[in-house]
Formats: sequence, structure tokens, C-alpha cells
Amino acid sequence: MAEPRDGGLSRRRFLGGMSAVGAGVTAGAMAVGAGAAGAAVADALSSTPPGTVEAETVDFYGEHQAGIATPAQDRLAFASFDVAEGAGANDVRHLLRQWTTATDKMTRGQLVGSISDPDTPALDTGEAIGSPVGNLTVTLGYGPSLFDDRLGLAGKRPAALADLPPLPNEDLDPDYVGGDLCVQACSDDPLVAFHAVRNLARLGMGIVEFNWMELGFGRTSTTSTAQTTPRNLLGFKDGTRNIRSQQTDLMDRSVWVGDETDQSWLRGGSYLVARRIRIFVEDWDRDYLADQEHVIGRSKVTGAPLSGGTEFTPPNFEAVDGSGVLLIPDDAHIRLASFEENAGTRILRRGYSFTDGIDPETGDLLGGLFFLAFMKDPYQFISLQQKLGSADALNEYIQHTGSALFACPPGLSPGGYFGDDLFA
Ligand code: HEM
Repeated sequence: MAEPRDGGLSRRRFLGGMSAVGAGVTAGAMAVGAGAAGAAVADALSSTPPGTVEAETVDFYGEHQAGIATPAQDRLAFASFDVAEGAGANDVRHLLRQWTTATDKMTRGQLVGSISDPDTPALDTGEAIGSPVGNLTVTLGYGPSLFDDRLGLAGKRPAALADLPPLPNEDLDPDYVGGDLCVQACSDDPLVAFHAVRNLARLGMGIVEFNWMELGFGRTSTTSTAQTTPRNLLGFKDGTRNIRSQQTDLMDRSVWVGDETDQSWLRGGSYLVARRIRIFVEDWDRDYLADQEHVIGRSKVTGAPLSGGTEFTPPNFEAVDGSGVLLIPDDAHIRLASFEENAGTRILRRGYSFTDGIDPETGDLLGGLFFLAFMKDPYQFISLQQKLGSADALNEYIQHTGSALFACPPGLSPGGYFGDDLFA
């Protein structure tokens, strides 16, 4: 069992639980074991003091899916799945029901199924036993290809859910593109996020198969006023001017799909753009500090805009120095991405830093920003990236290498299941 982290099941409580071993199945408890050890785990987990688990859980049910407006957690496991050859509409519908039940359980700190029958494979892979839930959220999305002619869903495809057009500054690796379905699992515990994706994949064996997957090791955005601004691999604060979930009018205007959609099942949902963006860290790390700050348009240490003030001072894009030179250069990232220079366009960024190790040919680090952003209409991202991809000073140091678009349905009420409205 993994060593518990703060807020999780302590070793002392775990050992204490072992002395009071119960037998058999504990409905609703996190672990269900046949042997003494399994039963001990079940007992120890169910003896978690009231409040401990609740303090680190995020409601699965609600008007919107969790994992969009809810505070961004520290870790990510993101998977793109394709429907397996031969699987039909009923299989996928059944699987989405199973995923709903499993997600509900996992986000409450329960196993997805029992680990008790010695003669069958365990119904939960088990690696998260003893880890804190860490505010686990699991967010589901449907890719454009889910609505082709295989499952009879063509009439349910929202018009805006189409493959993203070719965009500047991308060199897409076909191994990191698209997908029929996606699962974004976020938790403050990396193992718990991974466990969520793995167990959904396990339930989907024969019906869906992995298309691609990415793990994120540090959040690069702030989605709530309760959070401080983290840093990305550039070493800069990221998320300073992100939308906050408390800005409900902006969320309605920019993030949640409303009555404008041609598909009623998507109302209250959101579009998710995923872009795997490589950062050429070796080049960036050789760049002078002043140049780095001009590339972004902000101070590296404080996060303040180069026009002055502190981190949250609004940038003044008109401000010039004594020689009339713009303090925030005309190709600075924050200028080109700002809503002021994009007819009010805003997106909710929720990305993570990632690394896939070292390029065996060059010895360079393979990593960057796994950019995730939610929006009311994919065109918000397309228009921003058309501008950024052709003019952003940051382009010298980054390249988009993976891409996908998904439509995330709205949240569920208890008793509701993902897919029911699609396959109805
Ligand atoms: C590796 C790629 C990227 C890095 C390292 C990066 C980094 C940053 C940083 C450091 C900021 C300033 C702090 C903040 O307000 O959050 C920022 C702002 C922003 N970025 Fe990026 N970014 C990347 C890619 C993108 C992409 C692809 C988009 C959208 C197409 C985007 C959209 C934005 C927006 C909308 C802002 C807020 C600008 C403002 O209104 O001040 N970024 N980014």
C-alpha cells in the first residue's frame, strides 16, 4: 500500500483499523476484502473520521460537470479513447452508465468494485487504497468522431463539434490527435488521478481502447479566487487573468454552452480543447531574463504586467516608455491573447505541466504545457490560436504537437447517467 499523504489515512489509523478486523463485504466502504488484510483495509477506511473525506471531495453531481469550474487540482491524468471495432451503440451506452457509477464512487473515495472473490479478477485495480481522494474530479467529453456513422449518433452532433482546422505553429504527432471520448481526471494525488483513468479503461475493455494519454504534474492555472497563481515550465505565473468560477456572468458568456446550441443535450456543458504544447526548455533557459519578460509581457518573479503595478493590476497595453516604445511589446503573449485585443474573447484555461522524458536523439527534455481550455464555442480557441500561432513571440520556444476537441455534457442529477440523452 502506498504511504498515505497528509489528510489521508494515517499509518496509525490504518494499523489501528487492523486490530479491529471485520469480515465480509462492507457496502459503501472504500475497500472490500476477502482475506484478513482486505477486511482490515475495509475496516480502516470505513473508520475514517467524519469530515476527513468530505473535506477533500468535490461533488460529482451538479448542474455542470466537476473538473471545469471547480478549483484546479495539482495533478492530471488525461485519456483519449476510441470505440473498439465491433462495439455497438448498446455497448457504449452500457459503458457510459458503468462509468457514471464508477466515477460517482471514486470521487467519494470508494472502490469501483469489490476486491473479494479469490477466483475472479478484482473489480478495482487497488492502487489508490489508502491514498487521499484529493478532490478527485472526472470529466467526460465526446469527440467529433463519436458522431460518425458507427453508433447512429450523427443526428446528435452539435454543428460546432468538428475537427479543429489546421492552425499555425503546430506539427501534430498523429499519436496525440483526436479521440471518440475523453476522460480528464484531476486530483491533488497523482495516483488517485491515474487510478480513475485506469479503472474506467478497465471497465471499457473490449468496448473502448486507449488512443493516447498524458499525465500532468503541476497545475498551470487558477480557476477559483481561493487559489494562488501557480507557475508553468517557463517559470512564469500562469492563470493570473484566467476566468474565475466566481465570475458567473463571464462563465455564462464564455464557458457554458447555452440556448445557442443546436443540440439541447449539450446545454450547460462546455467544449474542451486539449493541446499538447512542447516547450523547448533548453532554448528558453538560455534566453535573457529581460527577453523572457518581453515575450510574455509580465515580470517573471512578481507576475506584474510590464506596464507596472502588481500581479493583478490590469495590463495597460497603451503604456509607452520615455522613447515612445510600448512597455508590453506588440508581439507579447499576454497582449495577443488578451480579451481586449480579441473582441472580448475569453476562455477558461485549466492546463498542466507535463514531461515525457528525454528525446533519445538529442538528449533534450520532452515536455511542456498540456493546455486544456473550456469554452462555449470552439471558435474562441481557433480565433485565438490563429493569432497567437502566427504572431506570438512565444512561438520561438513552443510548438503544438497534439490536439483534440471534445464536447463535455452538462452535469448529472443523482440517478442520471452519461449517455442517456445521447442514446435516447
Ligand atoms: C506553452 C504554451 C503557453 C504558455 C507557456 C503560456 C503562458 C502564459 C502566461 C505565463 C500567461 C500570463 C499569465 C496569465 O494571465 O495567465 C498567459 C496568459 C494567457 N494565455 Fe497563455 N500560454 C501558452 C499558450 C497559450 C495558448 C495556446 C492560448 C490560447 C490559444 C493561451 C491563452 C492565454 C490567455 C487568454 C491568457 C490571458 C491573457 C490576458 O488577458 O492577460 N496561451 N499564458
